[in-house]
Order: sequence, then structure tokens, then C-alpha cells
Amino acid sequence: MTEAWTLGDDDDDLAGALSGPVRVRVPAKINLHLGVGPLRSDGYHELHTVYHAISVYDEVTARAGDTLSLTMQGEGVGELELDDSNLIIRAAHALAATAKVPAQARLHLRKTIPLAGGLAGGSADAAATLVALDALWGTGLGRDELARIAATLGSDVPFLLYGGTALGTGHGEAVSPVLARANRWHWVVAFADGGLSTPRVYGELDRMRAAGTAPAPLNSSDDLLSALRQRDPAVLGAALGNDLQAAALSLRPALADTLDVGDKAGALASLVSGSGPTCVFLARDEAHGADLAQALRESGLCRGVQQAYGAVHGARIG
Ligand code: C5P
Repeated sequence: MTEAWTLGDDDDDLAGALSGPVRVRVPAKINLHLGVGPLRSDGYHELHTVYHAISVYDEVTARAGDTLSLTMQGEGVGELELDDSNLIIRAAHALAATAKVPAQARLHLRKTIPLAGGLAGGSADAAATLVALDALWGTGLGRDELARIAATLGSDVPFLLYGGTALGTGHGEAVSPVLARANRWHWVVAFADGGLSTPRVYGELDRMRAAGTAPAPLNSSDDLLSALRQRDPAVLGAALGNDLQAAALSLRPALADTLDVGDKAGALASLVSGSGPTCVFLARDEAHGADLAQALRESGLCRGVQQAYGAVHGARIG
């Protein structure tokens, strides 16, 4: 099995083309802190965020082929376009162009991460594709070069190459690892019906800020980073924050009821994940997570509820 990448590893183990199928598992991300700054002239908002990879996974398998093709199973079948607009296909073309190899492979996606859910599922699939095809084609590109390609595909894609817990700046594409103490944090993830468009949620935040109805923006992530250095989930819970939450709630007011169920059931924190509509809840431990998950299921408000933990590795073969 290929070792996971962590910032600072070298890439020797990925050099050389593989003949057989390459299967890559990639996690979803949540944002422990999502501070949204002003809208830039390039259409992105300046971010200070803390990414955290959790144990909800998609899987991309790459096999040798004469053309580039994509099939899928699981979440979003029939909804997700499998043509050139798909981030997986775009990732394949971007890698092929950089590595100067023909874009030929048979790709298959097994999807668990919901579409437009605020968990960066599409970005995760793009990151998995880069890792899988890098190995299948034996491109010999270094990790930094893959991260550079990743940044052209989406703000969250570089983080999903690395996983763990990391600070994101710029528009989210500049990542550096957070040296948190080895600790497992327990989460409950509540999936909602339907997705929320990320640009729409950012646009709603801009509208609310212009109208003076948005909450005060988050301060720096210093409190969150110091909470991560401790082992107390209650301390972490008090430090979580998401500037996009008010905008997601404005577009989808019913999410407040889901957050309420978590609060009343004793979650240490209840918050919208990224641009939503997925909600995440911090538990004291796994047993507490099971109780929270049961309360959320019994509420009948969620399409699905899953326990998860973090931080986990980013896209990796195996
Ligand atoms: O980078 P990505 O393609 O995932 O971003 C999707 C959209 O989300 C952008 O086109 C933009 O409208 C919005 N966005 C933003 N500021 C960011 C990241 C994303 O406004 N930092």
C-alpha cells in the first residue's frame, strides 16, 4: 500500500506507471473555522479557514483505456454529469496536459459524499483523480506540481490531496498543515435533501453584509488553532465557527431546526458545513456520537445521518 501523503513527504513511492487498476479513496472535508473576507476582483472571497478531513469517503478507480471515460455508482447517479464539465474529467485533462501524456483511462467513481453538500465532494473526486492518474500514467510529477494543478480545479482541491487538518488562505487553495496533537475528534454528519450552490451562498453573504444583516465576521483562527492543541472536545466545540452559516440558513431556514435538534441532544457544537446544507455536530466520544445520531434520525429532518471521525488522510491509493 502506498503511504499517505503528508506535507513534507517525498514522492518516490508514486514514481513509475502502474499496470493494474489504481483505486484511490478520498475523504470529505469540513471547515472547523471558515472566515470569509471581502470579495476580490477575480470573483473569489479572501478566506482564512481551517480544513479538517473526515471519514466519509468517495473512491475513484483508474484503469488503462483507449479513450477517457467515466462511470459512477452511489450518491448523485443520474444527477451528476459525467461529461467534460465533470471535475474528474477536467482533472484528467489538466494532468495529461501538464504531464504531456494522452488523456486515456477508464475511470469509475463510487460516491458517498453528497453533491453540493458543503463537504467538497466534487473537489475530493478531482483530488482522487489526480492521485490515481499520476500513478496509472507514471507521470513523475512531484506533489507540489499536483497541488498546483489542483488549485486550478477548485479552491478545496489542494487540501484534499493532503487531508488532515490544515490552514487554508488565499481563496482556500494555499494550504499548510496544522500541527495538532494526535487526537480523534468524533462527528455526526447530517445530510439534507437537495444541495446548495456554493456561489449562491457566497452571494447571499455579500447581500446580507451590504444590507447590514450578517453577523459580525469571525476573528482570526487563533482560538481554534489553540483549541486543537488541547484534547478537550468541549474547548474545540466552543471555538468552531462558519461565516457562511448565516447565509446558508437564510437560503434554507429549515436547517436551523436540524441544528436545534443537535443542540438539544447535547452536541458540543452544531454547525453548517462549508456552504451547506450538510450540518455537522461535535460529540464528546463515539458513544455520545451514537446518541446524537439517533436523535437526528428520529427527528425525521435529515435525509441521512452518519457518524464520522477526523482527521483522516487525504487522497491515497489503497
Ligand atoms: O473554487 P471553487 O470552484 O470551488 O469555487 C466555487 C465558487 O464559490 C466560486 O466560483 C465563487 O463563486 C465561490 N467562492 C468564493 N470565494 C472562495 C471560494 C469560492 O466566492 N474563496
